[in-house]
Amino acid sequence: MELLHSATFPSKQKLLIVVTISISLFTIIPLLYPFFEDPNFFLKQQPPNQTNTILKLQNGLVTTHESCDIFSGQWVPNPEAPYYTNTTCWAIHEHQNCMKFGRPDMDFMQWKWRPDGCEDAVPVFDPLRFLEMMRGKTMAFVGDSVSRNHMQSLICLLSQVEYPVDASVKADDYFKRWTYETYNFTIAPFWTPHLVKSTEPDPTQPRHTDLFNLYLDEADESWTAEIGVFDYVIISSGHWHFRPSVYYENRKITGCHYCQLPNITDLTMVYGYRKAFRTAFKAILDSDSFNGVMYLRTFAPSHFEGGLWNEGGDCLRKQPYQSNETQDEMTMKLHKIQLEEFWRAEEEAKKKGKRLRLLDTTQAMWLRPDGHPSRYGHPLEANVTLYNDCVHWCLPGPIDNLNDFLLAMLKREEDEGLLAQVRKMLS
Ligand SMILES: *[C@@H]1O[C@H](CO)[C@@H](O)[C@H](O)[C@H]1NC(C)=O
Ligand SMILES: *[C@@H]1O[C@H](CO)[C@@H](O)[C@H](O)[C@H]1NC(C)=O
Ligand SMILES: *[C@@H]1O[C@H](CO)[C@@H](O)[C@H](O)[C@H]1NC(C)=O
Ligand SMILES: *[C@@H]1O[C@H](CO)[C@@H](O)[C@H](O)[C@H]1NC(C)=O
Ligand SMILES: *[C@@H]1O[C@H](CO)[C@@H](O)[C@H](O)[C@H]1NC(C)=O
Ligand SMILES: *[C@@H]1O[C@H](CO)[C@@H](O)[C@H](O)[C@H]1NC(C)=O
Repeated sequence: MELLHSATFPSKQKLLIVVTISISLFTIIPLLYPFFEDPNFFLKQQPPNQTNTILKLQNGLVTTHESCDIFSGQWVPNPEAPYYTNTTCWAIHEHQNCMKFGRPDMDFMQWKWRPDGCEDAVPVFDPLRFLEMMRGKTMAFVGDSVSRNHMQSLICLLSQVEYPVDASVKADDYFKRWTYETYNFTIAPFWTPHLVKSTEPDPTQPRHTDLFNLYLDEADESWTAEIGVFDYVIISSGHWHFRPSVYYENRKITGCHYCQLPNITDLTMVYGYRKAFRTAFKAILDSDSFNGVMYLRTFAPSHFEGGLWNEGGDCLRKQPYQSNETQDEMTMKLHKIQLEEFWRAEEEAKKKGKRLRLLDTTQAMWLRPDGHPSRYGHPLEANVTLYNDCVHWCLPGPIDNLNDFLLAMLKREEDEGLLAQVRKMLS
């Protein structure tokens, strides 16, 4: 089997051929058997060594997948993009509808990702292929408004084929369900900006109690209670952890992030960030009902330059960075924490037969300072808190490419699933 040469081989077809051959072998052998007087005929004839075939197949896939890190690469021009506009897709959130609010440049929509060393491994999103793969499946987007931004990008890309119908079971906009009726495919956002249980600051309280309370060892039940039935769960979290918070563990205060209270230790946000992911992964690992694939979509950095978000910082670039541009320190730190916690959880997942995967898109998104709304997320004269939005992403825009990565990862999962079936069949 020639499985080693590229990442775009039609693996499904090849695996299906192997499956077919194997099935034929099993059915033909008993049929022929009566014709041979020597019951050991086939052993002596050395039929194709099935163990070898599987090993080769497996090595092919593993080599293709592991030799290529699809997440390291660069952005290259793609004059064919965008694949939808604000008139063909209704799902664009007002604040990410940059063209509506007069963003003058279009170049930021016209790039695609080219991984180093395996150029075609992340093709442009194919909505039909995606929907075919998702037939009868469910997918959850667990996180904050950037997670919702990603989900809306997916809905817009899929709008080239079909629009979903509102199949929500709750009235709450933060917990909707969208179903593609032709494919019986359902997408659901789950609003949980910290992933762990949290309470909002009380605006009526004096300044020093204007803090979030984060229960770092308790996952937020608004998503954990519902996640069991989903086939795919995409988890992400980031920007809300920057806000001043008090940390609780075992229901007791153990520290805080920028609370400025004399009797509480400031453990900094990286402490809370690590614990939040540890708790979220634990919830997935401990779930008896969850049998799907969990993807960690790693931190998508903001790009304020010339000041912080509330100090006149802005994002005015019109082109991606070159791939050698070094990440800012905070992005590096948060990304590192995510990877460490992911690998830690993955060890455990392997033992439990659970599937945890990495959508390691931090570097790709880091290279896109040009993709944010800046001041084009609202009418020019609006009085809004985040005037220059360098956190969310314009639609269409670079966040669409997260779905290129997602589809590439789903294809790998499919390959591995087929391989497992072949192995089982031949064992
Ligand atoms: C098939 O190949 C495997 C691995 O190379 C080897 O361990 C096994 O003995 C072989 N089986 C036969 C029947 O030749
Ligand atoms: C779409 O963008 C155009 C500018 O390209 C703008 O004039 C129009 O109002 C927008 N429409 C919607 C529905 O957002
Ligand atoms: C649609 O998919 C769900 C699982 O996501 C399944 O329970 C249900 O039976 C499917 N419905 C049809 C009509 O196939
Ligand atoms: C810290 O001090 C405040 C104000 O004196 C008090 O309300 C709070 O309970 C104290 N917290 C801890 C953890 O001791
Ligand atoms: C990246 O490479 C380009 C071209 O080689 C160079 O001009 C630029 O200064 C480099 N940037 C960094 C941050 O090293
Ligand atoms: C903007 O809104 C804030 C609070 O909503 C208010 O305090 C402020 O005066 C407003 N500024 C202007 C220029 O309207």
